[in-house]
Amino acid sequence: MKIEKLIVASRNSGKIREIREMLAPYRVAVLSAEEAGLPEVEETGATFEENARLKSETLAKLSGCFCLGDDSGLCVSCLGGRPGVYSARYVPNRDFDKGMDKLLDEMKQSGSSDRSAYFSCVLALTSPDGKTKVFEGRVDGIIAGEKSGCGGFGFDPLFIPDGFDKTFAHFTREEKNKISHRGRAFQKMIAAIFDEQA
Ligand code: IMP
Repeated sequence: MKIEKLIVASRNSGKIREIREMLAPYRVAVLSAEEAGLPEVEETGATFEENARLKSETLAKLSGCFCLGDDSGLCVSCLGGRPGVYSARYVPNRDFDKGMDKLLDEMKQSGSSDRSAYFSCVLALTSPDGKTKVFEGRVDGIIAGEKSGCGGFGFDPLFIPDGFDKTFAHFTREEKNKISHRGRAFQKMIAAIFDEQA
């Protein structure tokens, strides 16, 4: 299977940039849904996989192209796994600064000293004939007591991955891609699909 063009079912420019970098060696043109003139698909599923599939399968049907759906989020133990699939909607008006304060507040109110959390990412790759393959990645870590660093996006300034003493917002994009949930899901997809077209 040779994929020359891949439409990513997302409008998040931070994510698209990371995806372009990870697929750079594989000679595949990566387009956002917006660049391909396709609509945004609402995330109405109850799990990361349902949402990822919903996005890739809807856009593949509309475009007849290979489409990639991705759903990801931050699951915080002391909040019972929230915000989880609702991570994007947890943040008022995509204002992550406020979203991170809200998270720290909720964690404080929980009264728990458990700061463990993980990022999860599910990728769904749908081919023009409607068949979908799913790849998952996860990175465990803790939520820092305060925001730190100015790289990355979303909750990066609060998330310290296990084995490190700095938040994702202090990582270069290349360093983050090596160990992140999205990076790990991509490594699985690349090994299964793209390695043969390098
Ligand atoms: P979606 O996958 O576009 O539905 O959004 C996932 C949401 O989870 C983002 O808006 C962020 O709030 C959060 N998120 C997912 N991946 C990351 C990451 O790598 N860093 C920081 N936040 C993330």
